Amino acid sequence: MLPPDWRIKFCKMLNSEIPKTFARLHWTAVCFAWWMAALGAGAEDRPAGDLAPPAPGPDYSRYEQGRYVYERNCVVCHGPRGDGHGEMAASLGVKPRSFKTGLFKYRSTPWGKLPTTEDLQRTVRNGVTGTAMGMFTFLGDSDLRAVTEYIKFFSRKWRKAENYAPPIKMPPEPAWFADGAERERHAGAGKQTFQSTCAACHGAGGDGKGPAAAALKDDAGEPAQPADLRQAHLRNGDDPGDIFRVLVTGLNGTPMASFADSLSERQKWDLAAYILTLRRDFSEAGK
Ligand code: HEC
Ligand code: HEC
Repeated sequence: MLPPDWRIKFCKMLNSEIPKTFARLHWTAVCFAWWMAALGAGAEDRPAGDLAPPAPGPDYSRYEQGRYVYERNCVVCHGPRGDGHGEMAASLGVKPRSFKTGLFKYRSTPWGKLPTTEDLQRTVRNGVTGTAMGMFTFLGDSDLRAVTEYIKFFSRKWRKAENYAPPIKMPPEPAWFADGAERERHAGAGKQTFQSTCAACHGAGGDGKGPAAAALKDDAGEPAQPADLRQAHLRNGDDPGDIFRVLVTGLNGTPMASFADSLSERQKWDLAAYILTLRRDFSEAGK
């Protein structure tokens, strides 16, 4: 119903050009009717461009259930307004995420993009090692889904199609990880890249205390501490593939940027091999 073109142009002009009069009100109503009719028409008939179907957004049908789950399980840390200022927040070293920024660390999607619903569900299910963000294993699938939809209502980013991207397909772990001598050789190459590219923040020995570390800030202006890569358990997971993923996606909202383009695939696997050697209990685990 909406095309031809003049209707779109006319409706876009309405806001700016026509004075606030009864006529404008009338035409706003007409435009709205056209738009609804256009949405109702089959997908093929929908106009392209500005008046295309609304961008994706949170699933309204799960809002009430999601709020119920959120208020019982999440509000003490993430706050009633989702800004990360719940009652417990002040006492925590690693602060709860503010959902208002739409910035998420734990993703399978490119730097700067929103996480997938599965990414969010994985974080809530598994928690984040070494932080107050616990494992919500007791939530049923339906409650889990509802609460992940609910947190999307806190940021308008979820309503804009350009913030979405499909997950990046990660390559399989190279076979040489299984061979001790080969792994050592790759770790040696990784160590060199680490010294030139990562040590400024993470420290020459990976302890997180590089010369640049003290001055680092996250996007909210709070101090950002580079990860101590010698820890037994990293927040993003402990497998070579988990480290590789962090290097590809980066951690949005933190100074840990993406190295998707600046390091080759081989360099990233070499770094993963090197980081595994830093882990204190790595040799004991016999991996
Ligand atoms: C005891 C405090 C606490 C509670 C309760 C809590 N969280 Fe968190 N949450 C945190 C902290 C702290 C972080 C930050 C972890 C980090 O930065 O690595 C976090 C991070 C997250 C993230 C990760 C965002 C990202 O950057 O990828 C999500 C999603 C999340 N919480 C959802 C929830 C949901 C949903 C609930 C309730 C079911 C919940 N949290 C309950 C403390 C909490
Ligand atoms: C500009 C400073 C900076 C540089 C350069 C940097 N990082 Fe980071 N990195 C950080 C910060 C800060 C974090 C912690 C982010 C957070 O979770 O708040 C981090 C986190 C990580 C993590 C996640 C650890 C976990 O617990 O899951 C890995 C892995 C990592 N960095 C590896 C590297 C590697 C490898 C390089 C070099 C290619 C590198 N980083 C370069 C600042 C940096």
